[in-house]
Amino acid sequence: KELKLWGGRFEESVIDAVEKFTESITYDKDLYKHDIMGSRAHASMLAHQGLISVSDRDKILKGLDEIEAKIEGGNFVWRTDREDVHMNIEAELIDMIGEPAKKLHTARSRNDQVLTDFRLWCRDAIDQIIASIKRLQVAMLSLARKNEGLIVPGYTHLQRAQPVLLPHLLLAYVEQLERDVGRLLDCRARLNFSPLGACALAGTGLPIDRFMTSDALGFTAPLRNSIDAVSDRDFVLEFLSANSITAIHLSRLGEEWVLWASEEFGFLTPSDSVSTGSSIMPQKKNPDPMELVRGKSARVIGDLVTLLVLCKGLPHAYNRDLQEDKEPVFDSVRTIIGMLEVSAEFAQNITFNQERIQKALPAGYLDATTLADYLVKKGIPFRTSHDLVGKSVALCVSKKCQLQDLSLDDFRSISPAFDEDVYEYLGVENAVKKFGSYGSTGSECVANQLDYWLAKLGID
Ligand code: ARG
Repeated sequence: KELKLWGGRFEESVIDAVEKFTESITYDKDLYKHDIMGSRAHASMLAHQGLISVSDRDKILKGLDEIEAKIEGGNFVWRTDREDVHMNIEAELIDMIGEPAKKLHTARSRNDQVLTDFRLWCRDAIDQIIASIKRLQVAMLSLARKNEGLIVPGYTHLQRAQPVLLPHLLLAYVEQLERDVGRLLDCRARLNFSPLGACALAGTGLPIDRFMTSDALGFTAPLRNSIDAVSDRDFVLEFLSANSITAIHLSRLGEEWVLWASEEFGFLTPSDSVSTGSSIMPQKKNPDPMELVRGKSARVIGDLVTLLVLCKGLPHAYNRDLQEDKEPVFDSVRTIIGMLEVSAEFAQNITFNQERIQKALPAGYLDATTLADYLVKKGIPFRTSHDLVGKSVALCVSKKCQLQDLSLDDFRSISPAFDEDVYEYLGVENAVKKFGSYGSTGSECVANQLDYWLAKLGID
C-alpha cells in the first residue's frame, strides 16, 4: 500500500472499510478545475515570496497543466486510497515531477484548499443558474407576448376572483425569478472572499501573500479571520437557501400548469414533445415535466436542510463532518438547473386554449369587484357598495344568471345608485378595461410591464 501523504506518524495502514467510508473522491473530483486553479495561484505566490524557486514553480505549473489535460481527456485515474481530489492531484503531481511537487503544499492545508475550491465552484455555479433563470424569463416573456390580450380568471383561494390578463400572471413569475437572481448575486458577492492561506486554522508563520492569491483567483479580498475562513459554511447555506426559494417558485409554477392542463381546467395543452404517456391507459397524456419540477423542489429543500443540520452542532474550526457539504450542493445545483431548463422548454411548448378559457370566464362573478368600484365612483362608501354588490350577486345566484344579465330594474331594486352606465362595468372585458392603477392588470399597465422586461432582458 502507498504511504499516505499524511502517513508519517502512522504505524499501521487504515483498514479498507475506513478508507471506503472516509473517501470523498467519488464526488469531490468535480472540484478538480478549481483545485488546479487554486494550486496555480498558490504556487505562483510561493515563488513570488521566495518560498519556492521560479524553476520549481514552472515545473509545478507545467505538471498541473498536464494533469488538467489528463483529467479532461478522461485519462486520469482517480484513486480511492488517495482519499480526495486534493490529494489525488497532489500525489499525481509528485509521481510526475517529484521533489518540486512536494513544495506545493507549503503554507496550505486541505482545510483552506477545499474552501478555496468550493467557493470558486459555487461562484461558477451561481453564474450558470443565473443564465438558466434568464432563459426561463425569456421563455415566459415570449409566452406573454404570444397571448397579449388573453383574459383568464384570476384566483384567490383557488376560487374565481377577478379577471386578469394572462401576460400579467406570466410576468408575476418573471418578477419572482428576478428576485431569485438578486438573491444569488448577493450570495455571490458575499462568498467571493478568499480562504487560501488560512491554512489549517491559525494561518502561518511563513511569509505568504494572501492578497496576491486572492487577486489572482478573482476574489474581492482574503477573509479576515483564518478560523472563520476554515470553519464556516454559511456561504453554502445562503446559496442553497436561494436555490430553495427558486425551487419553490418553480414548484408553484409546476402546480399551476399541471392544474391548468387537467380536463377540469383545460386552460392549456402541452405539446406531445413535453408530455409522457401511461403504460396501461392508452389515452393518457401527462404533464410529467412540470410534475417533476414540483417534485424535485423537495430535493433542493432537502439539500438545504441536510446542510443546516450538518452545521448546527459543530465547534470551530474544521471538522471532518464538513466533507459532507459537497454532495447536497452539487445535487442542489444540478437539480435547480434541470428544473429551470425544463420549465423553459415547457413554456415554449404549451398552447393556451382560448376557447376553453373563454367558456370559463362568465362563471364566478369575476366582475363583481369592478361593480363595487362603480358604486364607489357614484359616491357610495366602499363597505356599503360591497354589501350592495353582494346582494346583486345573491340575486344572480337565485336567478341563475350573470351580473350583466340583471335588468336595470333588478339593480335599482337593490340600490337607486345604479344607472344605465352600469353595463360598461360588467362582463370580464369591460372589467379588465377599468383597471388602471400602477402594476394592475389593465392592458396599458401590462403593456408597460412587458416593455420594461423586454428592455431589461434585451429582447426586441
Ligand atoms: N476532503 C476533505 C473535505 O472535503 C478535505 C479537507 C480534509 N481536511 C482534513 N483535515 N482531513 O472536507
